[in-house]
Amino acid sequence: MPPYKLLALLTASSIYGTSFATSSFLPSTTGISGASTTAGVITIPLSSYSFTPYPTPTLTPRPPVFPATDPLNPPEVSSDRHVVPDFAPAWAIAYQKARNLISNYTTEEKSNITTGTGWENGLCETNIPPNKNFSGLCLEDSPLAVLGADFTTVFPAGIHVASTWNRALMRARGLALGQEFKGKGVNVALGPMMNMGRVAQGGRNWEGFGADPFLAGESAYETVLGLQHGGVQSCAKHFINNEQEQFRATESSNVDDRTQHEIYAHPFLRSVMAGLSAVMCSYNLINNTHACNNDKMLNDILKREYGFQGFVMSDAYATTTTLAAVAGLDMTIPGDITFNSGDSYFGGNLTNYVNEGYISMARLDDMATRIIAAWYFLHQDEDYPATNFNTFNQNDEVNNKHVNVQADHYRLVREIGAAGTVLLKNTNGALPLNKPRNMVLIGSDAGPGKSGPNEFLFGTGSDGILASGWGSGTGTFSYLISPLEGIQERARQNGSSVFWDFDDWNTDLAGAMAFGQAVALVFTSSDSGEGLFTVDGNAGDRKNLTAWNNGDNLILAVAAQNNNTIVVVNSVGPLIVEPWIEHPNITAVVWAGIQGQEAGNAIADVLYGAYNPSGRLPYTIAKDPADYPAQIITNGSGSGIVQINYTEGLFIDYRHFDQANITPRFEFGFGLSYTTFSYSDLGVAAIQSLDVDEEDLIIAWESGEASPIAEGSSVALWLHEPAFQVTFKVTNTGRVSGTEIPQLYIHHPSSACEPPSVLKGFTNVEMGPNDTKHVSITLSRYDLSVWDVVAQGWRKPDGQISFSVGASSRDFRLWGVMPA
Ligand code: BGC
Repeated sequence: MPPYKLLALLTASSIYGTSFATSSFLPSTTGISGASTTAGVITIPLSSYSFTPYPTPTLTPRPPVFPATDPLNPPEVSSDRHVVPDFAPAWAIAYQKARNLISNYTTEEKSNITTGTGWENGLCETNIPPNKNFSGLCLEDSPLAVLGADFTTVFPAGIHVASTWNRALMRARGLALGQEFKGKGVNVALGPMMNMGRVAQGGRNWEGFGADPFLAGESAYETVLGLQHGGVQSCAKHFINNEQEQFRATESSNVDDRTQHEIYAHPFLRSVMAGLSAVMCSYNLINNTHACNNDKMLNDILKREYGFQGFVMSDAYATTTTLAAVAGLDMTIPGDITFNSGDSYFGGNLTNYVNEGYISMARLDDMATRIIAAWYFLHQDEDYPATNFNTFNQNDEVNNKHVNVQADHYRLVREIGAAGTVLLKNTNGALPLNKPRNMVLIGSDAGPGKSGPNEFLFGTGSDGILASGWGSGTGTFSYLISPLEGIQERARQNGSSVFWDFDDWNTDLAGAMAFGQAVALVFTSSDSGEGLFTVDGNAGDRKNLTAWNNGDNLILAVAAQNNNTIVVVNSVGPLIVEPWIEHPNITAVVWAGIQGQEAGNAIADVLYGAYNPSGRLPYTIAKDPADYPAQIITNGSGSGIVQINYTEGLFIDYRHFDQANITPRFEFGFGLSYTTFSYSDLGVAAIQSLDVDEEDLIIAWESGEASPIAEGSSVALWLHEPAFQVTFKVTNTGRVSGTEIPQLYIHHPSSACEPPSVLKGFTNVEMGPNDTKHVSITLSRYDLSVWDVVAQGWRKPDGQISFSVGASSRDFRLWGVMPA
């Protein structure tokens, strides 16, 4: 059976089969066409809901800071944030076209636009049927590849591009992915994923952008701009608080309003500011209301506060009621209530609810308008390629046209692979490698998988180099370069002898192989994925933070025999490295992340110094798992909803370590280079506002008043325009070229009750030896604000705001105070 057929069955029956089935809300099927429905009776009294769509935030473009922007022509990437693109005019045009089109639609036709055709009923994971001039939609995973299509590229994971702290690479990856999705005829790419890594063991953390909202927000912003520049609609997911896989559909993430705004919702806000087309609501409940039926999150925060103009779709089978439409859900995917059930909460049921007055026609119009407007917004009405693959069967010779969309994206994959690699330890000049006489590569992670990179369905396993986690967030590899291949190719240039041993469990052999070698490279990994699948006892989330496949013992066995042992780690997230990190024979540690198809080449580039490492940790590596502020909840409470209380509030990852005065092994933002840098000449100045119309709001903010509530109030120009400029100099004080990643952390006054340090700026500075560069990092009023729960607005806290600039969250080099 072809892998994707098997997958379909697996996914269908065992995973989605029963957990979401509830039909007590279903009305009678009389008169329904489109998606068929199950007969049923309305069992609760319903009243008619009035509805007024949220208008486009009334913004007036003010170039050059606030230019009217089309998603196909985004502002150029900058290493600092100077430009706030204004997508409102482009949305307004798209809305007009969408309204015109649906003015000729029947109620049923409008409902059908909101409803996927059902599992495996079409070429893509979700298919929205065509109607009149609307082509219909193909919606497809993943955040790192076009899932289920051949001739595509598997890019480094989200966590890895975040580790680059390099906006140009984030943007370039988004663009290349966007071009591949478009080339395959996908309308909506189901990514990026921007959950926060609240828990270090969280199964899908590797799909996202790390454990800091600012870093995740910038990564999301650039990725969305890039994807949509490539032509595809981007769908930000999972909204919101899907922070662990176990119980993902039966847990309530209980989160206070301030934490929600400042931590978890921030990457979505930045995505909306990038002109985002779609948002996927998550499986979990938030404060005991399902995410896809959550008026507060969908209508109030996303559509009202953020002024989101695109559409909200459910995660697969995450819709629980037709009335979710009233709470802000615009589309249900893949359409059916449970796998192949043939009915839908939307489709015919939605038509009935509208016809019977339970849901207003204005709301249905808004749903269909949003979906079709996003299609016009991306100009997908103009010569967009038809879907040319079958996600369920790559050998479908009728529909799979085998279009090669890879271009030269492998170069970018290799560059990001190297740029996201973090050098954690380097003693005795161990790295870069200098023509070693001989070397041995030890550990299965150094070699190819036994049956190739697609051996395990959806990446649910790995017996070779770990280049992706598992689940719907992975891709189909065209090829995968292992470290053995990448290093051997490079070693040949120096005539070095290369040996290897991929047996993780025979530590005697590993030690014997390492003895006498000029360099012993030990490779280890740690994997996780979507909770649809359990791998080696890990139910999506990792069950511990130790290296897989006997990694710690293997490393120690090698280090016992070789005093130049270099450890290379491919991990989905933090690992406890205490058993070996201080071993005197371990001369270097290379944190190689999740690199995609060019992993082996990227690792070789870093080891040999062809790429001077500049990656920085996007999370904290603790000394003890208990040091992290939150853990996976693994105990359910019978058939009830599992309550997960986010009691740590704002204090996730380094914010907690700083607050509780816990010394981590490697702090957030840490990473070494083959050169060294110094910092000097700090300056800070206020920038004159461009938003002359909003001068009174700025004055009110300066005096400590919260921003007012209005459509799009959280994305207002006056709040996000550059308001302060921090300047300083960085000098490369070493002997080789390199890239420094200066980071800016705000320290709020104690009145704010904020963590001691919060990241609010970073940039990347490339320098030759002895070069000095002037660096600028701008801050907005939003960056200095906290969320005022009572006033429901962004407010500058009382007291003096200071800041530090430095090389990590604990390596500050310059200190300053914000102008009052
Ligand atoms: C995942 C989503 C994915 C969707 C469609 C779900 O299981 O949580 O991330 O986009 O399936 O495949």
